[in-house]
Amino acid sequence: MDSLKNFSESRAHYYFTILFTLILIFFFFSASNDTSPVVSYTTSLPPSHPHPNNLSPFSSQVLSGASLASKVHNNFDSCDIFDGQWVVDEGSSPVYEPGSCPFIDDAFNCFKNGRPDSDYLRLKWKPHGCEIPRFDGVKMMKMLSGKRMVFVGDSLNRNMWESLVCALRESLVDKKNVFEDFNCSIDFIRSPFLVQEWKFSDKAGTRRETLRLDMMEGSYNKYHDADIIVFNTGHWWTHQKTFKGKYYFQEGNHVYSKLEVADAYKKALKTWAKWVDANVNSSRTQVFFRGYSASHFKGGQWNSGGSCDGETKPITNETQLSPYPWMMRALESVLSKMKTRVVYLNITKMTDYRKDGHPSIFRQSASERMNGIIQDCSHWCLPGVPDTWNQLLYAILSRKKFNG
Ligand SMILES: *[C@@H]1O[C@H](CO)[C@@H](O)[C@H](O)[C@H]1NC(C)=O
Ligand SMILES: *[C@@H]1O[C@H](CO)[C@@H](O)[C@H](O)[C@H]1NC(C)=O
Ligand SMILES: *[C@@H]1O[C@H](CO)[C@@H](O)[C@H](O)[C@H]1NC(C)=O
Ligand SMILES: *[C@@H]1O[C@H](CO)[C@@H](O)[C@H](O)[C@H]1NC(C)=O
Repeated sequence: MDSLKNFSESRAHYYFTILFTLILIFFFFSASNDTSPVVSYTTSLPPSHPHPNNLSPFSSQVLSGASLASKVHNNFDSCDIFDGQWVVDEGSSPVYEPGSCPFIDDAFNCFKNGRPDSDYLRLKWKPHGCEIPRFDGVKMMKMLSGKRMVFVGDSLNRNMWESLVCALRESLVDKKNVFEDFNCSIDFIRSPFLVQEWKFSDKAGTRRETLRLDMMEGSYNKYHDADIIVFNTGHWWTHQKTFKGKYYFQEGNHVYSKLEVADAYKKALKTWAKWVDANVNSSRTQVFFRGYSASHFKGGQWNSGGSCDGETKPITNETQLSPYPWMMRALESVLSKMKTRVVYLNITKMTDYRKDGHPSIFRQSASERMNGIIQDCSHWCLPGVPDTWNQLLYAILSRKKFNG
């Protein structure tokens, strides 16, 4: 299978908050070198476990079972904004300058780590059937004003969260003399499986790590009433810990001696879906699920010498793309049966083209690279591909007149 990466967050710090106000940002610039007032989270990587329609979102959403396909669609009129191609846009520049944003983990900061090429920064996503607006941070801030947005998932969602925070920060920088308060919070909550990691004592009294497929991961009280929630889960299900499925998956008091990962994944998604339907007020909260982000390890996996360095151009020949992942088929099936309207950010294929977008060896600084390299071909350089996910998120929110 693919990709887990050598990246993890300290468990003690799975909850990060960025509270944005223009005043704070303004303050930040007056206080020049001091980043601490605006954000607090660890940027160091601990020695790791290498784990890796037109309905207004705030209107009451009663859906008939009539069209399952459209329920998991993005409803951007009739155009599927996730179906398109990457085009070279010489004139374009990233939403924020490489190396300029203090919120990017070193592991995603390819510029800081010395990545020399920059063509990967000049690709624009072009849907086949329509135009999408350029990300406008000020408008996005207005939409988010007074609201709470939370990313819940694994480090790929953290990648997306950092991208959004940097893009918004950039827009505020440009407008620093406009004295208007955009008060919103944008959090990342680490929950890589969405369901609960657990411990179980077997008959011999040995404590084993398990995964409770029947139990939502415990941090939900921190986000169930947010205005926007963006979920994801994917890469951790291919981790070596789970992929044999032996004595790992648990439901109630039952630990499966063997359960296929695909079956476990479906059970977990159903647990998630049931939780959302029962606990998220869809008149208040717009739920998104971000799809599987493609990895590009060649000649091995994330932990066995797989690489993607030297890739400076995306794939252009569609026949070289991977099939649509089984995880996303399972997700679509679960979403179609939900009461809550969940917007599916179907980014798998668009990411599959982007073998050029990963940190590869530039997940570390030159001096750190001396001690042998595990390449990162799962996450994305920032600026980079997740900026486009946020552009699409922005497009969907604007089209839906999110604040109206
Ligand atoms: C920002 O919003 C939060 C929650 O909506 C509220 O509690 C807080 O008072 C607001 N802060 C300002 C400065 O408006
Ligand atoms: C759901 O949210 C709406 C809008 O905030 C509110 O009016 C309604 O009372 C909420 N419903 C429940 C069951 O809490
Ligand atoms: C795309 O790749 C396939 C298989 O590798 C090859 O047969 C085909 O000629 C390629 N198409 C183009 C336009 O390069
Ligand atoms: C998501 O995109 C894939 C192509 O990558 C497509 O096969 C699938 O039908 C799409 N799903 C939805 C719900 O649009």
